[in-house]
Amino acid sequence: MSNVEIPAGLKELLQGYTVEVLRCRPPNLVAFAVQHFTQLLENQRNQRAKKHKPTRKGVSFDTNKSPKDDEEEEEEEDDIKSTTGKYSRRVSVCAEAYNPDDDEDDDTEPRVVNPKTDEQRRRLQDACKYILLFKTLEGEQFSEVLDAMFEVLVKPQEHIIDQGEDGDNFYVIEKGVYDIFVKKGGGDLCVGKYDNKGSFGELALMYNTPRAATIVATQDGALWGLDRATFHRLIVKNNAKKRRMYEAFIECVPLLKSLELSERMKIVDVLGARAFKDEERVITQTQASQQDSAEVEVARCTRGQYFGELALVTNKPRAASVYAVGETKCLVIDIQAFERLLGPCMDIMKRNISQYEDQLVALFGSSVDLKH
Ligand code: CMP
Repeated sequence: MSNVEIPAGLKELLQGYTVEVLRCRPPNLVAFAVQHFTQLLENQRNQRAKKHKPTRKGVSFDTNKSPKDDEEEEEEEDDIKSTTGKYSRRVSVCAEAYNPDDDEDDDTEPRVVNPKTDEQRRRLQDACKYILLFKTLEGEQFSEVLDAMFEVLVKPQEHIIDQGEDGDNFYVIEKGVYDIFVKKGGGDLCVGKYDNKGSFGELALMYNTPRAATIVATQDGALWGLDRATFHRLIVKNNAKKRRMYEAFIECVPLLKSLELSERMKIVDVLGARAFKDEERVITQTQASQQDSAEVEVARCTRGQYFGELALVTNKPRAASVYAVGETKCLVIDIQAFERLLGPCMDIMKRNISQYEDQLVALFGSSVDLKH
């Protein structure tokens, strides 16, 4: 065996398949392999064909094309690719073959530009300031995302997304309250809400799955949409980089040890990165403490540890303030993703709350109940 030569690319090919299997957990590995490798082959052929087409390099935008046009083109492509009939949905194809390192293609993709007034752009920038999925984008990519976004005004009771449908757009909230419903036991269960901030609709676009929840406006609201093709080209590609960057780190976070690899990868996909300067406040205490108002350092967290979970687990105001010690960088997850993805770690987090209580007892002598 020692002189058997391994063909170039074999390792990457098998690794790619393995990653998709872990991500999509298909019931039939062989059928999934056929689908995965057929798609790869088709992509290879398309790329070869594209290379022979006149290049669109230098064309930075295409104002004649609406996101809808792009979508329709993609739909058509998907229909052709489908093996189960012209109108079969994209939903079952979880293994959208995608090579994140293939940057070459990007330069020839038409840019979507939805013109905006200065005032609209300012509102859009404000709404996007804290969107985690955008936090790891480079400047140029971020402006491309902003260029492509389009304003959507919504009315009370309007369904922005319906569970089970194909994904068209990703949405950032500018204003309005939106209920989140998930089907359970034959009915729709309200599992949470977005209150004038945040974003939704990323899952179906990231994993090529049906919409996982229904989102309904409860009042007049304003959203910014990003079409599926641009989301894919910029955010999904960026996520592949994020995975490479944070995968090893995530592997050594003790809290996440009990999760499956595919679950940890989903966490990496929705993470944002935030840098803080020395002494900068990361979290502000809003729950009155039993102690007097002077702040006392009760603990220090370092690499691989976590904070900020207590208020989310107990549904109570922030029980402590957190400050950066030196230049720091944190990975951040929003509350919806926290609830969706960290359920399996909830017991560990709850158990750890008693450690905070013990810390306070050790410092102040009196007992503190953080849970109730
Ligand atoms: P997507 O599946 O594309 O469309 C519905 C969106 O609802 C989903 O992406 C998430 O962004 C959002 N969402 C919020 N909470 C949940 C939840 N508990 N389960 C699934 N999706 C959720």
